[in-house]
Amino acid sequence: MLKIEQLKVNYPDGNQVLDEVSFQINENETIGVVGANGAGKSTLLMSIVGLLLPIAGSITIDGTEVNKKNLKLIRERIGIVMQDPDDQLFMPTVYDDIAFGLRNYGVNEETIKNRIDYIMKTLDIERLKLQHTQKLSGGEKRIVAIATVLAMEPSLILFDEPTSFLDPKTRRNLMKLLKNITTSKLIATHDLDMALELCDRVIILKEGKVFATGLASEILRNEELLLNAGLELPYCLQNSNFKST
Ligand SMILES: Nc1ncnc2c1ncn2[C@@H]1O[C@H](COP(=O)(O)OP(=O)(O)O)[C@@H](O)[C@H]1O
Ligand SMILES: [Mg+2]
Repeated sequence: MLKIEQLKVNYPDGNQVLDEVSFQINENETIGVVGANGAGKSTLLMSIVGLLLPIAGSITIDGTEVNKKNLKLIRERIGIVMQDPDDQLFMPTVYDDIAFGLRNYGVNEETIKNRIDYIMKTLDIERLKLQHTQKLSGGEKRIVAIATVLAMEPSLILFDEPTSFLDPKTRRNLMKLLKNITTSKLIATHDLDMALELCDRVIILKEGKVFATGLASEILRNEELLLNAGLELPYCLQNSNFKST
């Protein structure tokens, strides 16, 4: 459904970030994009939703190319959950934030209400409906940000570091929630334990290029490969974590 070919992306200041990036995501697949800080993960997600346009190569979603002309259509098909929910949430209440995108598309209020009720129930956040977005905890904000994206019913959802800044229990709940979202997903993260648990395939980015790609269960167990990409084995596979008692 998503096809990226020989993608090359620079920032407006000329900083070259991505080069020769090619991969594809199939229907209902969960793909992890992993890599050290600065490898280009966030840049890749921004390119996929057309916030940065390629200087070479191409990105297509269900056959539609990501370019200036198609941006509206692209935004309908691809949702992005940004790393910082404060970049995503700006309406006074949780309900208004989730409704925002749908209202923009002229969806009638009754349909909006039904859809929001359903999503809030699914995500178990009904109690937050009329709360002020800015008063939520970090974990709640993250889930509300996901709800705003789910409301648009995209065919692909991009997540940028979804587990960052979460305490262990909130992280665990979020992972459960992500597991239950059957939409195709691309998860950019350096949380390799999460990637191992949630992703079918993994792409390792190193200095803006695809360094390795393959099954999550194989790539994330290959210590030498991970070390060469500036990463480490997932904690759950590190020997020091085996209990000696
Ligand atoms: N707005 C920007 N302008 C110029 N360079 C940027 C900008 N944002 C990020 N970069 C550079 O792009 C590279 C990749 O960054 P990023 O995609 O954020 O990496 P990651 O998400 O993997 O940590 C880094 O070298 C970073 O300094
Ligand atoms: Mg990033």
